[in-house]
Amino acid sequence: MIVTIDGPAGSGKSTAARKLAARLEVAYLDTGAMYRAIALACLRRGVDLNDPRAVEALAMGLDLDLDCGPTHTRVRVDGHDVSEAIREMSVSEATPSVAGLPAVREYLVKRQRQIAAGLGSLVTEGRDQGSVVFPHAQVRIVLEASLEKRAERRYQELAADGQDVTLAQVRDNLRRRDRDDARHWTPLVESGAATVVDTTEMTLAQVIDDLERLVRARRQER
Ligand code: DC
Repeated sequence: MIVTIDGPAGSGKSTAARKLAARLEVAYLDTGAMYRAIALACLRRGVDLNDPRAVEALAMGLDLDLDCGPTHTRVRVDGHDVSEAIREMSVSEATPSVAGLPAVREYLVKRQRQIAAGLGSLVTEGRDQGSVVFPHAQVRIVLEASLEKRAERRYQELAADGQDVTLAQVRDNLRRRDRDDARHWTPLVESGAATVVDTTEMTLAQVIDDLERLVRARRQER
């Protein structure tokens, strides 16, 4: 069974997807990690992010390996584990340039489908999973939350991490990212193809319970 979870930054989808996969005892695929790994390789090799041909060439030739467990996606580039390095702020900032290139997206979509074919069942999380990559997935979910709530959550995380940012900066950053990202899942929401879960007033435990119930109900229908 394939479960897709898409939605904006700060909606809680990474944690929810990971925990749902663990409960269902299936693999978890963090597709953002694939875009991040390419961005990290560009930074480390001095490839100009404004040169689409160079970024595409690097992406196609990259020795990128993913280990998808029920509680993690570990990422290796050239045999080295970069799972932590891809979370650095510089990589978060560089990744949208990489994710905006159609050839890179096409290549990673193919890789994501290959991973799913090998695993059989998985919970996969990103922006385009239910709309583009797995339009025939048995369960397609979009997690949403108000901009204010998402900004608050992300701000708390960054502050706990010792990063020097204001709530207003975080809110502006999310608002900018929403403009780029929302086009991927908006069709799913507008067509009613996905189940939308608004997490604004929910705890993480409630979100996971809801999603698990949804998946188990869908399994019984089959
Ligand atoms: O979910 P994340 O923050 O790790 O995503 C990193 C970047 O990759 C972000 O700019 C959105 C982009 N992304 C994407 O375009 N498509 C996906 N399926 C996953 C992530």
